[in-house]
Amino acid sequence: RSSEELSSKKAIVTAGGTIERIDSVRYLSNFSSGKQGNAIALSLAKSGAQVTLVAGNTKDAPPQHPNISLVSVESAVEMKEAVHSALPADIFVGCAAVCDFRVSNQSDKKLKKEGGLDLQFEENPDIAQSIGKLAGNDRPKLVIGFAAETDNLIEYAQKKLESKGCDLIVANDVSNGAVFGQTSNSAHFVTKDSVQSLDTLPKSEVANKIVDWIAERID
Ligand code: C5P
Repeated sequence: RSSEELSSKKAIVTAGGTIERIDSVRYLSNFSSGKQGNAIALSLAKSGAQVTLVAGNTKDAPPQHPNISLVSVESAVEMKEAVHSALPADIFVGCAAVCDFRVSNQSDKKLKKEGGLDLQFEENPDIAQSIGKLAGNDRPKLVIGFAAETDNLIEYAQKKLESKGCDLIVANDVSNGAVFGQTSNSAHFVTKDSVQSLDTLPKSEVANKIVDWIAERID
C-alpha cells in the first residue's frame, strides 16, 4: 500500500484497557494488551493518515511514527474526553477494552481491610457509540468498533453495529482466552449487509486488512 493512500485523512484510534480506580493505590482493569490498537494506528500512519492514538493501559509500548500523536489516558471518562478533543476526524477505530463500569465510591485514601470492601459501580460512557451516533459532519465518515464475544459472535456483532452506529464491527471469538495478549487473531468483518471471515492472521495483518477496508471506502 502507498504511504500517500490516506494522506490528508485524520484518524482517531483507541487502544488498551481502561483503568478504573478503587482507591489511591488500587484499580480494576482487564487483560487488553493494546497490540491490536497499536497495530491499527501504525498501519494507518504508514498509509499517510494523521493518527491520534488514545491509549489506556497497554503492555506493549506505543508505536513510534511521525504521523502518530499519542494521548495517554487512564479511565473511560478520560478516554472519552480525549477522543472528543481530537475531533474532527475522518476515521474512528475503537479498539480499546473500555471497562463497562467505574467505581462510584472511589476513595482518595488507601482503603483499610478492617473496614471491609463495599464497592459501588456506575456505568461508563460508551465511547464508540458517542462517536458513531454523532450527527452530520461531526461524525467521522467511517466508524469502526470491535466485538469480543464467547458466544453468538456474529449476532452480537450485528447488534453492536446498530446500537453503536458503526460502519464495521471487527468480531473476535474470545472463548478459551484467545485473542487478549496474543499476537494473532481470527476476525470477522461484520457490516450492515455482509460477514467476511478472515483467516487467523497476525494482529499486524488484521490491522492492514482493516486499513484496506477503510481505504476502499473513504472517498
Ligand atoms: O459493548 P462492547 O464493550 O462489547 O463493545 C466493544 C466495542 O465498543 C469496542 O470497539 C470498544 O472499544 C467500544 N466501547 C467503547 N466504550 C465503552 C465500551 C465499549 O468505546 N464504554
